[in-house]
Amino acid sequence: MSIIAVSNFKGGVGKTTAAVCIATLLAEGANVLLIDADQNQSALLWSKAGHLPFDVLTEKASRKAMMGGNYQHIIIDSQCAPGTGESKALADGSDLLVVPTTPDGPSLAATGRVFSELADVDNAIALVSMVPPSPQKDGAEAIEALDRADIRHFSRQIRNGKVYKRAFESGLTLPQMGSRDRAGQLWRDWIELKSELAGVLNNE
Ligand SMILES: Nc1ncnc2c1ncn2[C@@H]1O[C@H](COP(=O)(O)OP(=O)(O)OP(=O)(O)O)[C@@H](O)[C@H]1O
Ligand SMILES: [Mg+2]
Repeated sequence: MSIIAVSNFKGGVGKTTAAVCIATLLAEGANVLLIDADQNQSALLWSKAGHLPFDVLTEKASRKAMMGGNYQHIIIDSQCAPGTGESKALADGSDLLVVPTTPDGPSLAATGRVFSELADVDNAIALVSMVPPSPQKDGAEAIEALDRADIRHFSRQIRNGKVYKRAFESGLTLPQMGSRDRAGQLWRDWIELKSELAGVLNNE
């Protein structure tokens, strides 16, 4: 069983989207539970139409559900701006803490603060998301900034695309979106991330 938590101090950086996409990847051939630990309940809203290939429950409801022991993977979507110490608690309670960040200064600064709280934690990793297309260099510059700050990160970045908003509105995963809004192309980012994720979970 693996537990993956998703968190950042900053709001709107793609936490819920990352939680849903990682859950979608892992739900191929496994039972997955996404715990929506955010008061805004974005992941629960996303799941409301009943199309997602994994369960989404509140923290409270998930306690009972986990007793059944049916889940191979648990993903936790947390709310933004968790209090001091909360990121460390999340990392300590999980196999991996994924910290999504957009490639802009404020988001990278917030990510830096998360990792400074995690000084003695080795199971946290940043994920650069909402990266604008080339020739814009935002993604590469964000990776350089993370490297300079010695922050571990996925090498695969997640590109910007309106499909994410549409997928949320339709209650669908990207694969379920078919060819709408370049869903297939953009989903490749996550397929490539999956092998990197497997390596990270196995401490490679
Ligand atoms: N790669 C992407 N490209 C374009 N838009 C994206 C991408 N990822 C997420 N979004 C959109 O950005 C907005 C914020 O994303 P999301 O809800 O995943 O962030 P969050 O960090 O969970 O926010 P909150 O702090 O409010 O919980 C949403 O409208 C989402 O559809
Ligand atoms: Mg969210």
